[in-house]
Amino acid sequence: MKKLTCVVLGYGDRGERYSDYARVEKDELEIVGVIDPNPVRRESAKDKFSLREDMLFNSLEDFFKKGVKCDFVINATMDELHYATAMALLDKGYNILLEKPVTANPKELLDIKNKAEERGLKVVVCHVLRYTPFYSTIKNIIDSGKIGKVVSLQLNEHVWYGHFVNAYVRGKWNNEKACGSGLLLAKCCHDTDLICWLNNITEPVAVSSFGSKGFFTEENAPKGSAKRCHECTVENCMFNAKKFEIEKNFCPMYTWGKIQKPLEEITDQEKEEFLKTSSYGECVFKTDMDIVDRQCVSVNFKNGSIATLNLVGGTSAAGRHIHAVCEYGEIVGYVEQNKILLRVFDKENICFSEEEIDFSASVDLTKEDNSIGGHYGGDYYIMRDLIRFLNGEPTSSATTVISDSISGHMVVYCAEKSRKTATVVGVKDFENDFIS
Ligand SMILES: NC(=O)c1ccc[n+]([C@@H]2O[C@H](COP(=O)([O-])OP(=O)(O)OC[C@H]3O[C@@H](n4cnc5c(N)ncnc54)[C@H](O)[C@@H]3O)[C@@H](O)[C@H]2O)c1
Repeated sequence: MKKLTCVVLGYGDRGERYSDYARVEKDELEIVGVIDPNPVRRESAKDKFSLREDMLFNSLEDFFKKGVKCDFVINATMDELHYATAMALLDKGYNILLEKPVTANPKELLDIKNKAEERGLKVVVCHVLRYTPFYSTIKNIIDSGKIGKVVSLQLNEHVWYGHFVNAYVRGKWNNEKACGSGLLLAKCCHDTDLICWLNNITEPVAVSSFGSKGFFTEENAPKGSAKRCHECTVENCMFNAKKFEIEKNFCPMYTWGKIQKPLEEITDQEKEEFLKTSSYGECVFKTDMDIVDRQCVSVNFKNGSIATLNLVGGTSAAGRHIHAVCEYGEIVGYVEQNKILLRVFDKENICFSEEEIDFSASVDLTKEDNSIGGHYGGDYYIMRDLIRFLNGEPTSSATTVISDSISGHMVVYCAEKSRKTATVVGVKDFENDFIS
């Protein structure tokens, strides 16, 4: 198998994690360049991968001017940059590993798919959960036919309070207008993708959804609270920024990422100053968050199977749960526990067997660097599969080009339309509106 070369566009949190594959699997991948306007991030990549100075780029335009050849580009820019950068990369002939969500705009999604097909290039979307031992085993069991076809998929995504506040209340995904993604797209296009991918013998035909911002609202702010925590006199508020952000230090890459320094060098005093002016120092009930904190989605498939998804932000623990009910068996589990319970009907004896399948050992693949083991192994396995895919070698069923990412995104767009208009939305009708 050929060792591949890669350039990283957007060397932030995600860009760094995927790149770490090159440090773990040195014979498979080499990072040869980085494009990022942030000099701290470029320096960090330079040190880690011993990059030449002339392979560090401030912008995509500078990168194009140099005419660098590589096997693929990791596009790990923020959501609102995906479309313009992906289209420009395809125009110049690059294969792309593209972060999810592809885009918030259905026409842009179809544009990227069409351009990749026209140019004969590969765009693989970072549906990292598909690649985990947990979900890929569920997929393999369903595809084997052992428990029959899917009758109902019930999924839950509970986002624990540390993550929810730092990403979606005070964080960079808290405002649909600014970031381009609502909560369902940013957090759960993984789950809508799983719903469609696990049941891809059929296709989604109609979607309905409800949801709102019900807790992180001004009405729920403690009496007498200030807009910023450093000016607030309310005692015992669990979201007090100094305690929540500095003492607890939940999701530091999100919170302190805008301070132009490596995380480990930022002092508590600098953090306190940063909280005085950034959104991370704001009262959680008074931010410019314009997204929901709870949402449910129902999907009807062409063959009569159904799926539901419940998304809740601010829960006590993270919990991504699935209960797949099939004609002759069921699969139940929390991805965080890395094990599933498989029930298979014994038709002859009219009873069922129960087996626990544990994946904890198979996700211990961090070797010298634990950054690549994230998402229950998904970050590692997507890179592993991608390299085989681009080499023309067999991969798991998780690896697909962008055409197989369309349904999962369309379910999100339809759900958002349903939630905002209180109607049931037909997927084909919705799609047709965007095909000129
Ligand atoms: N697959 C997943 O499970 C998963 C998880 C989290 C985030 N994401 C997605 O990954 C993407 C990146 O998120 P992140 O948390 O790594 O963000 P980040 O802010 O940490 O990283 C983005 C990087 O892009 C750089 N950048 C900004 N403008 C740029 C430009 N014009 N050209 C090149 N680089 C530019 C920034 O300096 C930064 O280093 C987002 O789309 C996010 O939604 C995916």
